[in-house]
Amino acid sequence: MTDTIQHIAVIMDGNGRWAKARGLPRSAGHKQGAETLQKIAEAVADMGIKCLTVYAFSTENWNRPKEEVDYLMGLLRQYLKSEFKQIQERGARIRFIGERQMLADDIVEQMEKIESDTKNNDKFTFCIALSYGSRQEITSTFRKLAERVKNGQLDIDNINEKLISNELYTQGIPDPDLVIRTSGEERISNYLLWQIAYSELFFTKTLWPDFSVDELKDIINQYQTRERRYGKV
Ligand code: FPP
Repeated sequence: MTDTIQHIAVIMDGNGRWAKARGLPRSAGHKQGAETLQKIAEAVADMGIKCLTVYAFSTENWNRPKEEVDYLMGLLRQYLKSEFKQIQERGARIRFIGERQMLADDIVEQMEKIESDTKNNDKFTFCIALSYGSRQEITSTFRKLAERVKNGQLDIDNINEKLISNELYTQGIPDPDLVIRTSGEERISNYLLWQIAYSELFFTKTLWPDFSVDELKDIINQYQTRERRYGKV
């Protein structure tokens, strides 16, 4: 009964706490978290759900200790080189949303290559939010539209919700039906603020490295019992 779900968005939280509970460095939590991500992405694709968006690195995450940022960037390099290929082989289109200018040139090159290699895949979209912040995304969209109005390319009367949606990083991707955040934190943390206006929110205490396909299925079952009214009665 996943046919009604087109898009799941996930905030993968709790890697650090998972590692700490085991007396391991935070990097061990990220490594395990990356493996969980791989498993979940493949499962979502196999369920026939059209899109999965995950929060891999926020604009605020740049303020973490250099050692941790470097570790996450290393992990990302490894995923760009090999792990994302597996999901690519399942017919996934891979997209990245976020501020690319903050990322190293070699990483951006790899991201662009994967996006271009997979751009014609339409079975499943795997969207990775990297150096992403929603207010920043909305701000840059405002700027873009203001520029067009200033240049006479856009009439103010033509600014509507559809136009704004089409100017965000997520253009062409349906809004998330559900958002899942792990680790017990019940916040949105600057994630897809425009896009989740009507999404169902699920918070689980499970730390991301321990999140399983079974728990995902359980959340999907709960989602099926919720009634989405979009403000109507
Ligand atoms: C939040 O846990 C998680 C992150 C900031 C990074 C998420 C990254 C992965 C799951 C790895 C996959 C990523 C790539 C780049 C391939 P936290 O560190 O905030 O945990 P804490 O709240 O317990 O400290």
